[in-house]
Amino acid sequence: MVVERVQALSIAGLKELPAQFIRPDHERPENSKAVEGVSVQVVSLSQPRHSVVNEIAAAAAEWGFFLVTDHGIPPSLIRRLQEVGRVFFELPQEEKETYANDPSCGRLEGYGTKMTKNHEEKVEWIDYFYHVMSPPSKVNHQYWPKIPTTYREVTEEYNKEVLRVTDKVLEVLSEGLGLEGKALKRSLGGEEMELEMKINMYPPCPQPQLALGVEPHTDMSALTILVPNDVPGLQLWKDNHWVAADYLRNALFIHIGDQIEVLSNGKYKSVLHRSLVNKDSTRMSWAVFCVPPNEAIIGPLSELVDEKNPPKFSTKTYAEYRYRKLNKLPQ
Ligand code: SIN
Ligand code: FE2
Repeated sequence: MVVERVQALSIAGLKELPAQFIRPDHERPENSKAVEGVSVQVVSLSQPRHSVVNEIAAAAAEWGFFLVTDHGIPPSLIRRLQEVGRVFFELPQEEKETYANDPSCGRLEGYGTKMTKNHEEKVEWIDYFYHVMSPPSKVNHQYWPKIPTTYREVTEEYNKEVLRVTDKVLEVLSEGLGLEGKALKRSLGGEEMELEMKINMYPPCPQPQLALGVEPHTDMSALTILVPNDVPGLQLWKDNHWVAADYLRNALFIHIGDQIEVLSNGKYKSVLHRSLVNKDSTRMSWAVFCVPPNEAIIGPLSELVDEKNPPKFSTKTYAEYRYRKLNKLPQ
């Protein structure tokens, strides 16, 4: 099946945006601008533990989003991660197509672009590359980019580092709920917890004011740990406004996803977010989704529920949650 790639459209040099990308009036960035003067919380992980716990717990409860600095991932590794992703997307189109995924038959890993399901539905101005990074038993290296040849070693090194930071953030979030440090990770499958890499690629767009890179959504992951390039675009929904998440070099952009919202019985919020695109520059972002294995049973943690605090969410497997979210069924 031939899929029209957004990058190929962009390279063709269109002057006008094709109809399937034009958002309805109220969704257009030109009609829903971000507020000025509000900025997201930045938390340094090198502070004393109690400050880290207090700041992250507050940001997760109020925003469902925060930036972390002093996380110990070397800036040079982040640069190399970004470089190998950039090199992949610069390959000739035929070469990238050899990695094409096929969501219609359940093969999600590889190179992808969302397609319209019907004439009404709008699509997003984005191509991506998606694959599982860990645990080793779930990884299929055959789906990973083979060019550049350093892709695998760089990504494996990043996986190790990001897993260390994820474990720390999950510990801090657990303590912020008054639980012991291992509580959230245990519920997310412990060593079976998965990390997935999604490289988002938003090529230059002829009419960015009419389009969206990613439409408003919450992530179904537990956490998403993202590093963007320096082209702005990510926005968060807070107090009835969009707020721009300004670029901060070497910071990790951490989203609380649906599974942590459910486990925390709503104390931590799954953040609604979207991303915009740019007229002249390519925006890219590297999102690591931290998710439970399919069979993990996720519901509000029993320690957080009592007569005064009834469960706000139902309990189900992650596979069931995912199926319902992807098919827009009530949870
Ligand atoms: C997403 O949330 O799916 C993408 C966010 C980004 O590119 O910053
Ligand atoms: Fe997202």
